[in-house]
Amino acid sequence: MVDCLSEKEFQLFKHFVKNHIGVSLDRTKKAFLQQKLASRLNTLGLESYSEYYFYLLRDKEGEWELRQLINTITVDQSAFFRHPKQFELLANVILPQVAIQKNTTKKLRIWSAGCAIGQEAYSVAMVVNEMFKEVHTWDIRILASDINTYALKFAYKSLYPKKSIQQVPIEYLNRYFRRATGKNSGFFHVMEALKKRLLFRRLNFVNFDFPFRSPVDIIFCRNVMIYFDIEVKKRLVDNFFRLLERDGFLCLGTSESLIGIDDRFALMGHFMYQKKG
Ligand SMILES: C[S@@+](CC[C@H](N)C(=O)[O-])C[C@H]1O[C@@H](n2cnc3c(N)ncnc32)[C@H](O)[C@@H]1O
Repeated sequence: MVDCLSEKEFQLFKHFVKNHIGVSLDRTKKAFLQQKLASRLNTLGLESYSEYYFYLLRDKEGEWELRQLINTITVDQSAFFRHPKQFELLANVILPQVAIQKNTTKKLRIWSAGCAIGQEAYSVAMVVNEMFKEVHTWDIRILASDINTYALKFAYKSLYPKKSIQQVPIEYLNRYFRRATGKNSGFFHVMEALKKRLLFRRLNFVNFDFPFRSPVDIIFCRNVMIYFDIEVKKRLVDNFFRLLERDGFLCLGTSESLIGIDDRFALMGHFMYQKKG
């Protein structure tokens, strides 16, 4: 049985996590962190949190343990069509506008930044597919990125339990999912035709190489910035501003805002912003 996480140990991990992934762990997260660390200690057969801390520091090259820690402490909760009003705005206002703006290049780039286990990226892909399904001449790519490799693997596998697809409109369910069989019965697969629009990447917001060559038209970064302090938020939004197309769109979670972070975006409503031209 491992002791409680001491204040000194909490501070060490707090700084370690902040430096590596930007996530701020305040006092209220101490019990959560202790529980998550205890499970790693248990797996590795280590006896104290300090021992684990030095184990992490020694593991610089492979970063295997760092990834395990990140996978353990990041919150990858998500849902299909989470915040439905934003998907209405995407379908009725944003995509029609982008379709006009990009009518010459016919290139559309969307980024689900912090996609967790994939529902956000697939929800966006369904809406985009509906709008562009007759238009085969368009080059459309959706980047789905996260730092959590378990979450990304899950997203890539795209096998979801019945309960989790209840928010998917029935016509989309019929068109974009198929019932899994055998040992996966009770689960639903995303159809390959939809999946092929997506590009999965492990990206850390603290330090990343962006894989698209052309600017992004729409970024979804929802329920991610709540974990960051103001400095990290400012840096991240500055990167979004740089990577976005002129007049590009940024969609945040419903408890997030750009107030006090960046004034180069105009609020459209429903926590969706447009870059000022
Ligand atoms: C609560 S989920 C949000 C999922 C989805 N965007 C939604 O709103 O339903 C937050 C995600 O942010 C990711 N995340 C946290 N810190 C990150 C970082 N530094 N770089 C990239 N992703 C990060 C987590 O791994 C997690 O999957």
